[in-house]
Amino acid sequence: MAITGLFLCLFLVGHLLGNLQLIFKVGEEGRRAFNEYAYFMSHNIVIKIMSYATYLSILFHAIDGIMLAVQNKKARPVGYAYNKPGANSSTASRNMAVLGSAIFIFIAIHMSNFWWKMKYSSEPMPLHLMTKEITVPVGQNPLTGEAVNNTIEVKYALTTHGDYTTLVEKNLTSNEEREYAKIKDGTKIIQADTDVELGEGYKDLHSLTVAFFGQDRTDEGVPANKYAGLAVALYALAMLVLSFHLWHGFASAFQSLGINHARYTPAIRIFGKVFSIVVPLLFAIIPIILFINK
Ligand code: HEM
Repeated sequence: MAITGLFLCLFLVGHLLGNLQLIFKVGEEGRRAFNEYAYFMSHNIVIKIMSYATYLSILFHAIDGIMLAVQNKKARPVGYAYNKPGANSSTASRNMAVLGSAIFIFIAIHMSNFWWKMKYSSEPMPLHLMTKEITVPVGQNPLTGEAVNNTIEVKYALTTHGDYTTLVEKNLTSNEEREYAKIKDGTKIIQADTDVELGEGYKDLHSLTVAFFGQDRTDEGVPANKYAGLAVALYALAMLVLSFHLWHGFASAFQSLGINHARYTPAIRIFGKVFSIVVPLLFAIIPIILFINK
C-alpha cells in the first residue's frame, strides 16, 4: 500500500502540473497548449505505461486497503469498553478506509467525466480545428509541386472520425475556399523549402473540461454544463477528502516502508502535511476559477 500510495502521489503532482495549464494559459493559446499536452500524454509510450501503472495502483491500493480495514475489524470484533482514540491517533488516521473509499468513488466519477469520453464514448468527441497557414511559393501545388496560381492555406482539420485531414485551397484575391484534397496522416506537404508532416490532430479535451465546469463552448460543440455549480462543489469536496487522506497517508507510507530516522522522519512529516494541503488546494482551485471566469 505504501509503494502504490507514493506512486499515486507522484501521479497527482504530474496531473496537477498538466491541469494547471487550464488556468494559467488562456484563450486560443491555452486551448491549443492543453490539447497538445493531452495528445502527447495519450500517444507517448512511456506515459502510456505510467497510465496503466496508475490504474493498477489505484485498484491495488483500494482493494488492499479494504482488506486491511476488514482484517482490523476482525481482529477486534468487540470494541474497547473504554475508548478515547483521539488520545494517540488523528481522526484522519482512523478513517483512512472511509476517506479512501470516497476518493475511489470520486475517481470513478471523474474518469467517466473526462477520460471515458476521451477514450471510449460512442458520442463523437469535439475536435480542435487547427489552422496553420503555410505559404507555398505562388504558383506551386503543395502536394505535387505543380504550377497553380493561388496561395494555399492548410487547415489541420480533422473529420469527426479523424482519419484524414482536409487541405483547403484559398484564393486570396477572391477569398474563395474550396476543398483541395483529403490527406491521410503522414502526407508530406511541400512548404517553400521544407516538408510539413501532418499529424493526427487533437481531440478537444480542453473544451470538454472547461465546459464541464461551466464555460460555454457551444461553438466548439460542447455547451456549458447545466450542473457546473454542483460539479465544482463535488470536486472541491473530494479535494477536501483527499487532503485528509494524504494528511495521514503520506508520512505513514514512509513509516510502513521502515524509513524511520531521527533527522529525516520529522522532515518527511512536515513535507507530508504541506503536500496534503497544497496539492488538493491547487486541484480544487482549478474548477473554481473556471467556474468564476465563465
Ligand atoms: C480537480 C481538478 C482535476 C481536473 C480538472 C482533472 C482533469 C482530468 C482530465 C481532463 C482527464 C483526462 C485526461 C486523459 O484522459 O488524457 C483526467 C484523467 C484522470 N484523472 Fe483527473 N483531474 C482533476 C483531479 C484529479 C484528482 C484529484 C485525481 C485523483 C485523486 C484524478 C485522477 C485522474 C485519473 C486517474 C485520470 C486518468 C489518467 C490517465 O489516463 O492516465 N484527477 N483528469
